Amino acid sequence: MSEVILFNTKEELTNIVGNYAIVTVIVNQEQMSVTRINDDVYVFESKCPHFDHPMKDAKVSPAGKVTCTWHNYQFDLNSGKESETRCRSMKTKKAYYNENGQLLVQL
Ligand code: FES
Repeated sequence: MSEVILFNTKEELTNIVGNYAIVTVIVNQEQMSVTRINDDVYVFESKCPHFDHPMKDAKVSPAGKVTCTWHNYQFDLNSGKESETRCRSMKTKKAYYNENGQLLVQL
């Protein structure tokens, strides 16, 4: 299992990823989306599993869901499951802080 540093500090994260905002990052040559709900960080696919719409346009809710703006499919940010199972689940990655305060993502 490998991991990559997403942000060097929590401050760097909060400066770049606003609360409920979605930012696209490149990790290991792969585009991923990062969002934040207060202190909880979620990493997921950069394109919608339904029809590849960019997830940077999606809307994040306080309940931990992300809704694609094209056909309004809604995905759980933890499990990636679409609310009505209308398409495959969104791929999600686990993000966590190490002992140095860096935010890592598991590949
Ligand atoms: S492309 Fe995202 S819901 Fe259809």
